[in-house]
Amino acid sequence: MCGIMGYVGSRSAPKVLLDGLRRLEYRGYDSAGIALLLGQTIDIQKSEGRLDNVEKLVQSDPRRLENATCGIGHTRWATHGKPTTQNAHPHQTGHIVLVHNGIIENYIEIKKGVMARGHIPRSETDSELFGFLVLEAMEEGLSLERAVRESFSKIRGQCSMVVMSEREPGVVVGVRNGSPLVIATDPLGGALFASDSQPLLQFTRDVIFLEHGDVAIATAHDLKIIDLKTGALVSRETTHLEWSVEQIDKAGFAHYMLKEIYEQPGALVDTLNGLLDRTGSEPFTLAEQPGVEVLRNAKELVLLACGTSWHAALLGKYWLESWAKIPVSVDLASEFRYRNPVIRPGTVVVGISQSGETADTLAVLRELRARKIPCLGISNVRRSSISRDADAVFYTSAGPEIGVAATKTFVSQLLTLLLFAGFLSRERKTLSVSELSRLFEDVVRLPHVISDGLEQNSEMIKAIDATVNSLTLSSKVFAGVKGFFFMGRGHSFPIALEGALKLKEIAYDHAEGYAAGELKHGPIAMLDPEMVVVVLAPKDSWREKTGSNLEEVKARGAKVVGVGDAEDHQLSQLCDYWIPLPLESRKIDPDLLPFALSPVVQLLSYRRAVLKGTDVDKPRNLAKSVTVE
Ligand code: AGP
Repeated sequence: MCGIMGYVGSRSAPKVLLDGLRRLEYRGYDSAGIALLLGQTIDIQKSEGRLDNVEKLVQSDPRRLENATCGIGHTRWATHGKPTTQNAHPHQTGHIVLVHNGIIENYIEIKKGVMARGHIPRSETDSELFGFLVLEAMEEGLSLERAVRESFSKIRGQCSMVVMSEREPGVVVGVRNGSPLVIATDPLGGALFASDSQPLLQFTRDVIFLEHGDVAIATAHDLKIIDLKTGALVSRETTHLEWSVEQIDKAGFAHYMLKEIYEQPGALVDTLNGLLDRTGSEPFTLAEQPGVEVLRNAKELVLLACGTSWHAALLGKYWLESWAKIPVSVDLASEFRYRNPVIRPGTVVVGISQSGETADTLAVLRELRARKIPCLGISNVRRSSISRDADAVFYTSAGPEIGVAATKTFVSQLLTLLLFAGFLSRERKTLSVSELSRLFEDVVRLPHVISDGLEQNSEMIKAIDATVNSLTLSSKVFAGVKGFFFMGRGHSFPIALEGALKLKEIAYDHAEGYAAGELKHGPIAMLDPEMVVVVLAPKDSWREKTGSNLEEVKARGAKVVGVGDAEDHQLSQLCDYWIPLPLESRKIDPDLLPFALSPVVQLLSYRRAVLKGTDVDKPRNLAKSVTVE
């Protein structure tokens, strides 16, 4: 949830740390700080709010920029204690300074202990308490490394920590005990620590993903890894990163989110290439990898995820059940875990997480796997924690997604589930070869469908702009907009949920997604001229029924934004605003229309957020990967 950076070497440490933290800010951004070794003492600059505040503090004294070549830094997403400067990391206790990502579950017990021994915590965080443990262990004569290991044996919970001490200047100790931590040797000498690989790319593409229970000890001349419990040296393989620095820049777009929306066609092409064996003559042949056999043998699937990934799972159920006739249940990872679900023999669980780091999803996979239930993962991040907690992971190839709102990873997850559905339909012979070939041709067309819609000045883009401009800027048309409903039936229902989530996340509008048939069972009471209802009604088998629901909405005076086939004049005439889907979408099977709808709901939210002036890429209170339960 939080972002960690650490560095020791010959470069300017504040520059390395601030550059790195900027690339990690998506992990949390309610406060930030850096600690720099200046001579024999450690100087800490921290602030609530964004990293820019810290940068100003650091720049206020040129000594920091010129002399510091060792330090640690942090961007925070508050769990224990408010997002204040006091609670911001790094935390200092005596000569110990640390940054922390994750949770110390037994912090109350630890706090009582350290206070009973005469220490007075200055923050409300669980993190600071760890510093007291290290301090006490060093007072007993242990080295920094031994003291950190000793202190870890006293805490419970998944976390990573990077620690320095004024007593051992130039030594940086990092521990991965759950939350991710990546290290690398700096080609100019020295070492780097980060809570994910992106900030390291500007220095090197060769990194080491620490394993659970690894301790990395770095100086300007050495980097070694030892085991947390035994202290024995361990060797870990180096991973050469495929992502480039260019991929993690904005490339001229105003926001990462917009860039990522426009990267969707490429994300689909790369995901297809990554998951399919294109040499096979049969449609939907998955490239050989460990998970394929597990999937082939599944008699039933349980899809588990959170947020947007959960919406992808909901949609996957439609395809898997109607094409492959395999029973599928979908659940929120955070709920499934605590409700003693019945899991029948032959069930395969699939955890879906673009980041591969979501605590709720990982925890449930871990538990199920311990019960010998086969677990697969779908993720966009290679070597993320899900690779440890699932038996095998299918990777989407959307490239790095920096905007907090998931966009291109969402459609890549959809595509992966669609490929699962096609693959299982062939294996289970629930669709004929000709049906599968026809569907497969349409699947290959999906990148064109999305790029057709996203073309500059396409009818779709013009209509989205006009709609949002009017809703947001024109008080003549709307006395006010007090809320949004998104509604759809069948395949459009999960997209309605996703549209509402996007609008909440980045534009802070009250928005709800509904199955169109559900509105009259309660929510319709909310409708009046200040409510906007976005009706997703593409030309599929639900179109007529959704059309009737649209009439019901209109009769209650709500303003209607319709999204549908470009030539559905009957529907467009009923709507106050009309957004036509790209013409390419008429060439694909109606089951695949969610791929045409997704960019519409993403862009609606994006445009509204921009007009409202919110921070699109870093919306308030959120973080890109939610590594706490
Ligand atoms: C998506 O826009 C959200 N930021 C959020 O709902 C996200 O999908 C959720 O936290 C799950 O993340 P994951 O896919 O990385 O597990």
